[in-house]
Amino acid sequence: MQTHEIRERFTQHFVQSGHEAVPSASLILDDPNLLFVNAGMVPFKPYFLGQQNPPFPQGKATSIQKCVRTLDIEEVGITTRHNTFFQMAGNFSFGQYFKKGAIEQAWSLLTGDVEQGGYGLDPERLWVTVYLDDDEAAEIWEQHIGVPSERIQRLGMADNYWSMGIPGPCGPCSEIYYDRGPEYGKEGGPIADDNRYMEIWNLVFMEKERGEGIGKGNFEILGDLPKKNIDTGLGVERVACILQGVDNVYETDLLRPVIDVAEEVTGTKYEDPDTDRINDIRFRVIADHSRTAMMIILDGVTPGNVGRGYILRRLLRRIIRSARLLGAQGKTMERFMNTIMDTMTPSYPEIAEQRERILKVALAEETAFLRTLESGTHLFEQAAGQVKAQGGATLSGQEAFTLHDTYGFPIDLTLEMASEAGLKVDEEGFHKLMAEQVARAKADSQAKKHGHADLSVYRQFVDEHPTEFTGFEELNSNSKVLGLIRDGQQVQEAAEGDEVEVILDVTPLYAESGGQLGDRGTIEAGGTVLRVGDVQKVGKKLWVHKATVEQGGLIVGDDVQALVDPAWRHAARQAHSATHLIHAALREVLGPTAVQAGSMNKPGYLRFDFNYTDALSPQQLEQIQAISNQAVDADWQVNTIETSLEEAKAMGAMALFGENYGEVVRVVEIGGPFSMELCGGTHVSHSSQIGPVAVLGESSVGSGVRRIEAYSGLDSFRYLSKERALVEGVASSLKAKSEEVPERVAALTQKLKEAEKTIAELHRKQLLSGTAEMLAGAEDVAGVQFVHQQLPKGTEAKDLRTLATDLKQKLGGAPGVVVLGAEDARSRVPFVVGVTKVAIDQGLSAKELAAVVGQYVNGNGGGKADMAQGSGAQIGGFSQAVAAVREALNS
Ligand code: ALA
Repeated sequence: MQTHEIRERFTQHFVQSGHEAVPSASLILDDPNLLFVNAGMVPFKPYFLGQQNPPFPQGKATSIQKCVRTLDIEEVGITTRHNTFFQMAGNFSFGQYFKKGAIEQAWSLLTGDVEQGGYGLDPERLWVTVYLDDDEAAEIWEQHIGVPSERIQRLGMADNYWSMGIPGPCGPCSEIYYDRGPEYGKEGGPIADDNRYMEIWNLVFMEKERGEGIGKGNFEILGDLPKKNIDTGLGVERVACILQGVDNVYETDLLRPVIDVAEEVTGTKYEDPDTDRINDIRFRVIADHSRTAMMIILDGVTPGNVGRGYILRRLLRRIIRSARLLGAQGKTMERFMNTIMDTMTPSYPEIAEQRERILKVALAEETAFLRTLESGTHLFEQAAGQVKAQGGATLSGQEAFTLHDTYGFPIDLTLEMASEAGLKVDEEGFHKLMAEQVARAKADSQAKKHGHADLSVYRQFVDEHPTEFTGFEELNSNSKVLGLIRDGQQVQEAAEGDEVEVILDVTPLYAESGGQLGDRGTIEAGGTVLRVGDVQKVGKKLWVHKATVEQGGLIVGDDVQALVDPAWRHAARQAHSATHLIHAALREVLGPTAVQAGSMNKPGYLRFDFNYTDALSPQQLEQIQAISNQAVDADWQVNTIETSLEEAKAMGAMALFGENYGEVVRVVEIGGPFSMELCGGTHVSHSSQIGPVAVLGESSVGSGVRRIEAYSGLDSFRYLSKERALVEGVASSLKAKSEEVPERVAALTQKLKEAEKTIAELHRKQLLSGTAEMLAGAEDVAGVQFVHQQLPKGTEAKDLRTLATDLKQKLGGAPGVVVLGAEDARSRVPFVVGVTKVAIDQGLSAKELAAVVGQYVNGNGGGKADMAQGSGAQIGGFSQAVAAVREALNS
């Protein structure tokens, strides 16, 4: 059964029993704790926690969620079941059916007749586990379903108690396993061998909420969820592995074609009994990672050095490296990407529209990494050479870290190269430096936003007092101080001069998000004034105002007024709306492959990053600027519409990522189809209020990503007027009108070129005028006329050639040798050797003599018998060179 069909059957099974089929959310959701969605339930978290009502009429949903887990990346290809990308099919009940319903429905799909839409698995091969004290689940399995008690096993917290690994919903679970037979391992059920007994489905009885803690078992249970829920996850690729009768998840219909292509491009055979097992792992890594990388790029990630970008980079580099170790020469990524896009498109039709962009991103990284490999290999060899020269046997952790950090060398690459060079690597030292770096990066990014790295201080406010934002309707609001935080600690009051974070129940100040910087403003009460220098969000719900107490003091519980600085907001709205115009204009000019990769706007200025490999031409930039300003001039009304994500997409609104199914989203529309984006920012109400848009230029910001920058409103005016002053300055020094400047500059450049030509000609004549004197000074060495001269500093190679040719000509039918050298303007030492025809017939060669000269001026030379040239580094050796040639002529 093809994977695509396994998916269809799952959805059908649950839709028939009243579940609403929900499309997969993007792999990237706005959850600061999660790099990628790692389970089917993630998008439904607010419904489990009771923060939002599930928007499904029957309280039941089913989805096939894209998931990425990269924690086990080293396991890929070694075990039979670890994919970094996989599809989790799930059914969810929000306070509807519970254990019995979940167990019944899972069983009927797994064991149901293939003719009737089931998977047709043999019930005799299925085993189940339940949580230690979950007698209720065990009884349902045994009494109600009829699974014999010896095939029901009990496991503890680490295995049968599920949570996302972070605070949130959790509960005991029951897992279903398939016995693949004795050839896969020993008897005894899942507790004895998890390779032979492959876990295929996890049924979570979601009824508790967990707190902080590390690992799978070490957390506190905070209490009951408002309702008893069901969350399940069936591993689509594992079921495919079983139903397709293949040995592991890398050989199913979706991934095997990549292995086949890898065999072709590397010239190595998969599962060749004569080669090392490690080769098979490399093939599987290529297949697995190609798919994960492709799906991540599809959802908008580009390679980078931190976070998601780094994971993508690592995946792509592991593919390239594995292919090279299997024997591939040159580039292979295009074949892998095309193959995986072909196999995945039937389930994810959106790939078809994004093919070109996905390829561009992956290929740019390949090109960059192949270059990196070259320079990194050089550095490695140097370091290895040094260790050996000092009689050592171990490459330091610092060297390995530098290779990783600066050259992007994965540690296993360094290990492998070291072992080939007969060296060890201080892995412990390396990992220590890595851990320090990770901790630094994490603390940095938290600290950048909040001034301190610990976010737990906000937790209670996020849960209990989400901020009400009034800034779309008003700029001043009455509110109450709910909390004050200083240096990461809650405090009760703040005095004059203090820097504090203020949490209010209601605020009109915009918090940084969607690329728009936070508002500036004040918080005031009686004689108290706090100046707000930034506003940040924690989660999606809590507004944190960073402020300085300028006058008076503040106590938790105070009634205050929160005021937005109107001038700031006015220019911020202009800049954000201008960003939408630039985005729309950009897509009009470059086409839909130019996908947004990020943006930032603040009063008067915006920058917009997008995926595109080529630089934009001045004409394209001009066009983008013109389209944006026409949109301003059209005075379109700016509409904001609140609707569901699905409806917004149907309207044609551009959604990036981070939006969640069922969520109410805000669409900002400027000029109907011209610009429609999901956006929570603040905007002008008519496009003419944006004022002029002035494009500053574009540049590259990393491989495959370009940046366009622009001014808006009064800042555009200031910029344009400065430019005008510059042109006027140039015009006045040219004594021309400004419109004549281009013509005058062109004429001047032309004149300059002609003058340079004349100077060069004069220079040549001057040089040649010296040839008579040089000839007069020719030495007779064993019957050969030997002309040699060191020319003045600044003489170029081409001058030397001209001279030598002229001298040779003047020597005519006589046997003659010319040797000329000089130090040129860049301190190199060009030299030329000429030999006349008669001298060649006597056995002399300019090429050989040039080699002699090369030795003395610390360089080398080459050419033909009649004329040769070269370049050295030491003019001081020229007279010795001449002596050596003289000697050669004598012998
Ligand atoms: N959320 C459960 C899991 O990921 C189903 O295993």
